[in-house]
Amino acid sequence: MAILKIARMGHPILLARAAAVEDPTDPEIRRLVADMAETMEDAGGIGLAAPQVHVGLRIFVWRTGAGGAAALINPVIEPVGEETEAAFEGCLSIPGLRGAVRRPARIRFRGLDIAGQPVEGEAAGLVARVMQHEADHLDGVLYPMRMEDLSQFGFTEELARAAAAERAAKEAP
Ligand code: NI
Repeated sequence: MAILKIARMGHPILLARAAAVEDPTDPEIRRLVADMAETMEDAGGIGLAAPQVHVGLRIFVWRTGAGGAAALINPVIEPVGEETEAAFEGCLSIPGLRGAVRRPARIRFRGLDIAGQPVEGEAAGLVARVMQHEADHLDGVLYPMRMEDLSQFGFTEELARAAAAERAAKEAP
């Protein structure tokens, strides 16, 4: 396994539409997925899409509850219902920054696993958000492009400081 170089915002691969994986059982794909999982872990991310490691293929990985990683190949994501939620997101390709993005709260997903077997399911909350964020990468979309209010965009450190100050002000007698 290997830790791959992560493309940062401004690199054209992050704005390109990724191509479908033709043979998910190709050992090269298995190796790529393993390297992506290792790269995500090393960088402290909770999701990573192949274009972020300079590979224009429709694959993403995300961190699962048990500290492992799951992968979806040629994913299709559809919203379920009308409910949306706004929450702060970060991106390994946009280090040090976070921004609030409104997205559908529930999704249905389908795709292939690394054995090439069809998988499908529904997700809500953080997992739904991560999957939508990563699927966006496969279409050349970065989260700031989805932001409705750029006043909700800032450096992680500053946002944390501001949130802590707000909490302290509320707790003050
Ligand atoms: Ni990202």
